[in-house]
Parts: sequence; structure tokens; C-alpha cells
Amino acid sequence: MPKLSVIGAGTMGTGIAQVAATAGWDVVINDTNNEILEKSSASLVKVMNRLVEKEKIDQETADKILGRIDFTDDQQYFENSDLVIEAIVENIEIKRKVFSAVEKIVREDTIIASNTSSLSLASIGASLENPSRFVGIHFFNPAPLMPLVEIIPAVQTAEETTRQAKEWVDSWKKLTVLAKDTPGFIVNRVARPFYGESLRMYEEGIADFATIDWAMKELGGFRMGPFELMDFIGNDINYTVTETVFQSFFYDPRYRPSFTQKRMSEAGFLGRKSGRGYYDYAEDATKPEPIKDEKLGKEILDRVLVMLINEAADALFLNIASREDIDTAMTKGVNYPKGLLKWADEKGIDWCVERLDALYEEYHEDRYRCSPLLRRMKTKKQSFYS
Ligand SMILES: NC(=O)c1ccc[n+]([C@@H]2O[C@H](COP(=O)([O-])OP(=O)(O)OC[C@H]3O[C@@H](n4cnc5c(N)ncnc54)[C@H](O)[C@@H]3O)[C@@H](O)[C@H]2O)c1
Repeated sequence: MPKLSVIGAGTMGTGIAQVAATAGWDVVINDTNNEILEKSSASLVKVMNRLVEKEKIDQETADKILGRIDFTDDQQYFENSDLVIEAIVENIEIKRKVFSAVEKIVREDTIIASNTSSLSLASIGASLENPSRFVGIHFFNPAPLMPLVEIIPAVQTAEETTRQAKEWVDSWKKLTVLAKDTPGFIVNRVARPFYGESLRMYEEGIADFATIDWAMKELGGFRMGPFELMDFIGNDINYTVTETVFQSFFYDPRYRPSFTQKRMSEAGFLGRKSGRGYYDYAEDATKPEPIKDEKLGKEILDRVLVMLINEAADALFLNIASREDIDTAMTKGVNYPKGLLKWADEKGIDWCVERLDALYEEYHEDRYRCSPLLRRMKTKKQSFYS
């Protein structure tokens, strides 16, 4: 079996190690912090025990999986790795240093990957002497449970590197999609309006958090409402992703962050983890009741949905990914009830363009500009899937 080395034994590194070891790979996890290595090891034992209790796997399998994973603070153990995946802090300078050191240890044909969520792969890859063997492999949290993995070749990546990385991750029973090295790749780009447009409607006083969440879940079929989801992810993390995407797109107003979320983050109202976010998570707290007005609910859903569709259409227009991969990414990476391009077909391309133009007409903000692809499709009477 091939060998994987994981750099960083935090949330993502530990999850990725579990995925590969479950698929039969030998894994080495490395971290500079020995306490974190111990925590990672203990958490994997706990996960395996739970899987055995739930009868998902037997004890022998659990022991075998754990037996395949070694923990070390010494990167010399990376020797002989077929693949290295880095999952350390999201800091370009630190990542670049780590990559140039690791490249000197591993074999010449070892594929080297980063799990970065927001940094440019071209800029990380430039730290390698041979960047053609470097690629982005972006897992979602929690890695063992989320089926989607985005594979992102940098401009320097050799085709063979991308092909091999995809083949390996597919063999770990993950669903891979290919994305261009652009901010947010597929999921973190296309999902922005789910949060941004909901926050905007709240700021305009159209509805409160509970009502917006109710509309998106009850009428839209989303598993979690945007405010519940932001509280779950953490307002600090979600805000930082939005701000990074906004800056990386050269301040395109479509991705402008919200003051509401910035203030929540600054106040320490981070969500579940701090006990308070948009909602209060104290044991005796009462959850606010939504206004279950169908007409208002539909207005909320339609506005968020058309902005999501516009983002997905524009990602296709700019060849960020294929039609199928964009829809798969959103259903398997963030559990959307339907692919957005499929949804666009169901709502009708005319409806999408008219709704976006109505928003643009009302606000005269660039944020509401309709993707040229949708406009072109409307003229030609086309749909995404026929
Ligand atoms: N958490 C998520 O939801 C998520 C999802 C997808 C991708 N990512 C990306 O994955 C990466 C890791 O995120 P995380 O949430 O697991 O972070 P984390 O803070 O849980 O873990 C990072 C680990 O890296 C270790 N580390 C730091 N410098 C190191 C070095 N030089 N050598 C070895 N280990 C080092 C730290 O000790 C820490 O244990 C980031 O690039 C992040 O953007 C995170």
C-alpha cells in the first residue's frame, strides 16, 4: 500500500489521516507540537471506539486502522512517502518554509499537496524547486464525514500530478471535483451569497435571523439556515473566509463582507463555540420564533437562491469547474438540497435573469449584476442540462 504523510495534526490533518488509513494506506502524521500529536492520537482512538460501538466496523478493523498511523515530530519519517498533504496554519510564509524543507526529504516523484482553503496554490507551489509535483487537495470539515474533495492544480502543476492525486483520493472513497486555482475554489466561492445576501436582508430590516433561517429551511429545503450555519462554523472563521475572498477578488463588491458579521466576530459572539452568536446557546435560552409568512419567506428564499445561482453560473462562465462538478460541489460539500445549475433550470433561466435585473434596477449595485452566461442563455433559450 502507498504511504501518506500529513503535516499538521490539527482538525483537518487528523481527519485526513483517518480517511487514508481507513482506505488501507500507511500514514505518518507530523506536528511541531507534541501535545497536539497526543491529542490527535487520542481523538482517533476515540473515533474508532465509537465506530466499533455503533457496529460500523469491528475491533480488528479498528486496530488495523490505528496500527497504520504513526505520529511524529520528526519530518525525516516522510522519506518514502508517495503523497504528502500539508494541513498546518493558514499562513503563506509558514507554509512556504515547510514545503521547501519537505521537498528535500521526500523522493523526487512524491506528490506534495496543500489543504489550504484560501491561499493561492500558485504562490505556495512557487516555494518548491519542482512545483510540477504540487497540487491542491481541499477536504471539508469533518474530513471523514464530508464526501467532497476539491482537487486544484496550480498553474505549475503537471497533468500527471493532478490525475494521480485525483485517482488516489477517489480510491479513498471520496467524491472529487476539479477546480481552478481561484479564490474560494468552488464551494467557498459559490456559497458566499448564502451568508452575504441573508445578512444583507437582515441589515435592511426585511426579516430577522429566525425568519430568514425558517424560510431557507422550510421553503428552500436547506438543512441549516444561514444564521444557524454561521453560528455553527463560527462567525470569526466565516467572516475571515468572506474577507479573504473579497480581497482576493480585488474587492469585487459581490463578495463584500457584512458589518453585522464583523461586529459579531469582534464582540466575541462567535456562535456555538462561544455560547452566543446570532442565537443564544445558554441552556435556559428561548429560541426566537420566526414569522412564518409564506409570502415573505418566498421573497427571502428567491433572493438568496437567485444570488447563489448567479454565482454558480458565473463560476461556469469563467471555467472554474464543469457544470457537473459545480453542482456536485454544492450538494456534497455543503449539503445543498439541489445543484444550483439544476435549480436554475427548474426556476427557468428567464426567471433568474429577470429577478437579478430587478434587484440591480432597485439597488444599482454591482453586487446584483447578472452573469453574462445567464443573459446569453436567456437570449438563446438555453438551459444548463438540456
Ligand atoms: N478547519 C476547517 O474547517 C478547514 C477546512 C478545509 C481546509 N482547512 C485548511 O486546513 C489547514 C489546517 O486547518 P485546521 O483547521 O486543521 O488547523 P488546526 O489549527 O486545527 O491545525 C493546524 C496544526 O498545524 C500544526 N503546525 C503548525 N505549524 C506547523 C509546522 N511547521 N509543522 C508541522 N505542524 C505545524 C499546529 O501545531 C496545528 O496542530 C489550513 O490550511 C486550513 O485553511 C481547514
